[in-house]
Amino acid sequence: MDASFILSVISRWAHVGTAIVLVGGTAFYRLAVIPALEGDSTGLVERIRNRWKKVVHTGILIFLVSGFYNYFTMIPKHKGDGLYHALVGTKMLLAMFVFFIASALVGKKPGTQKFRDDAKKWTGVMLMLAAVIVGISGFVKVRPVPAATAVVEVAE
Ligand code: HEM
Repeated sequence: MDASFILSVISRWAHVGTAIVLVGGTAFYRLAVIPALEGDSTGLVERIRNRWKKVVHTGILIFLVSGFYNYFTMIPKHKGDGLYHALVGTKMLLAMFVFFIASALVGKKPGTQKFRDDAKKWTGVMLMLAAVIVGISGFVKVRPVPAATAVVEVAE
């Protein structure tokens, strides 16, 4: 086992693990916390947001580091495979938008207050985008690499 193989396993573990925690946490927030605390005036929603903020910021950092690492290690295997790069590029743009909404929802800046005021809608949007992102990620992983672009290793 060489170092790059071990790094790839660690990177995928971190990436998929982060997706489980952040997407799962968002689903719990949207489906259980928001409906249960509608109309709450005790400041509990804000305390939950303040705690979740650290998880969101750490998760975005892990997503970016592991995601770009995964991408750069996959580039040689997908040389000339336009569909792969188009799909992963689309996924990255969607992920940036999700990161923006997630940061706005746990933020405090007045400019992003409208997202917090309608958290029900925006967590729903995040979950739908996350479903598309995970779908694209799974598709590019299992789809056969077109023969013309696959790297053929010839033993010497
Ligand atoms: C909302 C954020 C994200 C979610 C939910 C997500 C989810 C996932 C999941 C579940 C996989 C594993 C697919 C599988 O092995 O079946 C994956 C793979 C991957 N992700 Fe992400 N990801 C996110 C953000 C990012 C970002 C920001 C990047 C790049 C900067 C990125 C790049 C990649 C790459 C290159 C792969 C490997 C694709 C391949 O197998 O060729 N991801 N992602």
